[in-house]
Amino acid sequence: MNPFIKKNAVLHAENVALSDIAQSYSTPCYVYSKSALTNAYTNFSRGFIGCDHLVCFAVKANPSLAILNLFASLGAGFDIVSGGELARVLTAGGDPRKIVFSGVGKTEQEMEAALDADILCFNVESESELRRLNQVAEKMGKVAPISLRVNPNVDAKTHPYISTGLKNNKFGVAYEEALNIYSQAAAMKNIAIHGVDCHIGSQITELSPFLDAFDRVLALVDALAQRNIHIQHIDAGGGIGICYNGETPPAFDVFAKAMREKLGARKIKLIFEPGRALVGNAGLLLTKVEYLKHTETKNFAIVDAAMNDLMRPALYDAYHDIQPVQPRIGDSLVYEIVGPVCESGDFLGHDRELALEEGDLLAIMSAGAYGMSMASNYNTRPRAAEVMVDGDQCHLIRKREVIADLFSSEIVLPP
Ligand code: LLP
Repeated sequence: MNPFIKKNAVLHAENVALSDIAQSYSTPCYVYSKSALTNAYTNFSRGFIGCDHLVCFAVKANPSLAILNLFASLGAGFDIVSGGELARVLTAGGDPRKIVFSGVGKTEQEMEAALDADILCFNVESESELRRLNQVAEKMGKVAPISLRVNPNVDAKTHPYISTGLKNNKFGVAYEEALNIYSQAAAMKNIAIHGVDCHIGSQITELSPFLDAFDRVLALVDALAQRNIHIQHIDAGGGIGICYNGETPPAFDVFAKAMREKLGARKIKLIFEPGRALVGNAGLLLTKVEYLKHTETKNFAIVDAAMNDLMRPALYDAYHDIQPVQPRIGDSLVYEIVGPVCESGDFLGHDRELALEEGDLLAIMSAGAYGMSMASNYNTRPRAAEVMVDGDQCHLIRKREVIADLFSSEIVLPP
C-alpha cells in the first residue's frame, strides 16, 4: 500500500499532511513511513518462511539509526561495508551475529573491529584480502568466518555505475578462480569457510539476471562439495529494483519462489542483502519552491533541495517522480526542477508539467534509498532533517545540521 497519498487534496505521509511536516521541521526534509519500511521488510522475508534465511539490510541505502533500529527490531541482519557502518548497526541495536561485511577495501582496523564484534561473515573480495584477514585473525587469536564474493559475470542490465557482476568490475573474484581461492582458504588456520557470496548490481528490474547468477553460484557450491568444502550459506546479494517511473521489478514473492526452486533440496541457508527494495519507496524528500524563473527557452522552479541532498539525478540521470503537496488548479508549465547549487548538473527533475507558485511544496518521491546516505555538504549546505511518520505521529529522527557543524572540525592556521 502506498504510504504517500492525497487526502483532502493534500499529500500525506500515512496520516500526517506533508504541509504540517514542512511547518514543523522546515525544508528540505526527508520523510519516511514506518509502515512502508515495516511492510517492505516483512513482505521480503515472508517469501522465505520455512526456508532457513536471513535478510541483511544493506546499510549503505539508508544508515539512519532509527531505520536500522526498526529493522533490527523486526529481526533483520545487516550488510555493512565499513567500520562506520558496523558502529552504526551496533549503536542501533543490531545483532552482530547477523552482520555480513562486504566491500573491496576492508582495512586492518575494520577487520579487527568486526572480529571483535563477532560478526556472522566476511564477504571476502580478493586473495590479498583473504590473506590479510587470516593474519589479522591470527594476531587476535580468532577464526574469521568467510564467504568469497564471486563474480558470476552476468549482465544485470542496469546503469553501468551500479552494475557490479561483470568481469570488468572491481568487485569479487573471478568465477573461474573461485575454486582455487577456496582451496587456499581451506588451508588457512584462522579462516573458516561459511559461504559463497555474490552481488551483481543494483536497481535490477528483471528476474533473469538473479537466476543466472544463482545458477552459477549453485554450480560452484556443488563443485566445492565435491572437494569436501561444504557451504553453510549462500549470500545472493541485493539489487532488486523498485518502481521509480513505471519499471516493473520482480515481486518479492515471485523472486523468493524462483530462488527457492533453484536451491532445491540443498540444506543451505539463504542470505540476502536488499537495500533499495526495503527503503526506496518508503521515503520522500520534501522541498519548497524558492523561485520561479522563466527564460526564453526554459521555465525553472528553483527549490531549496539540491544535488547535495539527493545526488541520484545528477550522478545517474536518475528519475524521481515529483508531486505537488497541494496541487493548484490553474495553468501548468513544463519546468526544470533545480536546486541552488552552482552547477548546471544540479537538477532534481527535467520537463515536469506542474502548476506552481513560489512557496509551494514539492515531494521528490522514491527518495528513501541512496538519498540521505549520499548527501553531502557541497556548497556548505547543512544536510536536511529526517522524520519518520508512524500513523498520525511524526518523529524527528535526525536534526537538520546547523552551519556551525559544518566547519567545527576545521583548523585555521596561525599567521
Ligand atoms: N550488497 C552489496 C555488496 C552492494 O554493493 C549493494 C549496493 C547492496 C547489497 C544493496 O543493493 P540494493 O539492494 O540497494 O540494490 N547509489 C546507487 C546504488 C549503489 C548500490 C551499491 N551497492 C543508486 O543510488 O542507485
